[in-house]
Amino acid sequence: DTPALRDSYGRAITDLRVSVTDRCNYRCVYCRTGNEGAMFDELPIEDYLRIIRVFVSLGIEKVRLTGGEPLLRAGLLDLIQELSGERTLGGERLDIALTTNGHLLAGLAQPLKDAGLSRITVSMDAVDSETFTAITRVPRSFDKVLAGIRAASAAGLGPVKVNCVLLRGFNDSQIEEFARFSRDEDVIVRFIEWMPLEEPSSAPNARNWSRDTVVTLDEIVTRLNGFMPVVELPANAASETARRYTFADGRGEIGIIAPVSRPFCGHCSRVRLTSDGKIRTCLFSQTDHDLYGRLRRGASDEELAGYIRGVVDRKEARHHIGEPGFEKPSRSMVHIGG
Ligand code: GTP
Ligand code: 5AD
Ligand code: SF4
Repeated sequence: DTPALRDSYGRAITDLRVSVTDRCNYRCVYCRTGNEGAMFDELPIEDYLRIIRVFVSLGIEKVRLTGGEPLLRAGLLDLIQELSGERTLGGERLDIALTTNGHLLAGLAQPLKDAGLSRITVSMDAVDSETFTAITRVPRSFDKVLAGIRAASAAGLGPVKVNCVLLRGFNDSQIEEFARFSRDEDVIVRFIEWMPLEEPSSAPNARNWSRDTVVTLDEIVTRLNGFMPVVELPANAASETARRYTFADGRGEIGIIAPVSRPFCGHCSRVRLTSDGKIRTCLFSQTDHDLYGRLRRGASDEELAGYIRGVVDRKEARHHIGEPGFEKPSRSMVHIGG
C-alpha cells in the first residue's frame, strides 16, 4: 500500500506538525520568545481543522500539535475532539500528539485525554527547580510541570515523553539525574542535541550555538553507561527521530535525538504548518509556502491538496548544520513549532 504523499526523494510524508499559536508563557534562554503576545496571526480553529483534514486525505497518519505553547490556544480541546474522529487512508485512527512545556498541563491532562489526544511530550530541560527557572525564566515553574507530567500519566496519556535539549555547561550535569527521573516517574526521557535555530545574540545570559556546545549522542551514551549500563532498543519506525535505550534491569527508557551528530533526514517523514498557515517542508527551510492565503482566496479542498502535493515534491534533501554556508531557518522555533 503506497502512501499517497511522497517527496521527490521517495520519502513517504506521514507526519504533520501544526503550530497552533506562537505565544508562549516561558522565555527559555535558547529560544528567547517573550510574553509579547502573538507575533503572527493565528488561524481560526475551523481553518486548522479543514487544512489538517486535507492533509489526512493525502496520507498523513500522525498530527503533532505544537506552538509556541499549544495549551494557551483557546479552542484546542475542540480541535482535538474533531480530529479524534478522523481516519487515515489506511482506516486507522489518526495519531494525535501534543508537545507542551507542561506549565498548564496539571489541569488539562484529563480534558485532553477525554477530547481524544493519543499521547503527550513535555519539554523539560532540568530536573531541579533552580536550574529550571534559570532556563524558563519563570519562577516556580518546575513544580507545575512535574505535576503536569504526573497528571498526564494518571490520565492515561503515558508513557509521557520528556524532551530535554542539552546545552554544555548548563544542564549537561543533569544527565544522570534525568536517567533516575525516567526510572522513578516511569517516563521516556529524550535528550536532544542542540541545533542552531536562532540568530546569535549578545544578550548577557544568551547561549549561542557552536559545535562544542552540542552534547553528542556518543557522549550521552558514555555518561549513561557510567550511571548504569544501557542497552539499545529496536526502533519503533524507520522515520523515528530518537534512538532508544533502556537500562540493564529493564527499568526506564531513554531516547537520544541526534540531528547534529547522526542526522536522520534520509528517513524524514515530516512536514510542518506554521501558526499562520504556511507550509514548511523542513525545519531548516528558507521559504514558507502560503497554504492559508490560498484557502482565504477561496481554494477548494482539491485545489489545496494539489498545492500541498506540489510543495511536498520540493521538500529539501537534508539540513546543512555545521557545513560552510549554513543558514539558520528563515523563521524561529516559536513559529515553526519544533
Ligand atoms: P514522536 O516520534 O511521535 O514521539 O515524535 P518526535 O520524535 O517528532 O518528537 P518531538 O515532537 O518531541 O520532537 C522532538 C525534537 O526532535 C524536536 O524538538 C526537535 O528538536 C527534534 N526534531 C523533531 N523533528 C525534527 C526534524 O524533522 N528535523 C530535525 N532536525 N529535528 C527534529
Ligand atoms: N535545538 C533542539 N531542540 C530545540 N527545541 C527548541 N529549540 C531547540 C534547539 N535549538 C525543542 C524544545 C522542545 C521542542 C518544541 O523543541 O526543547 O522540546
Ligand atoms: Fe527532515 Fe529537514 Fe529535519 Fe532533516 S532537518 S529531518 S529534512 S525536517
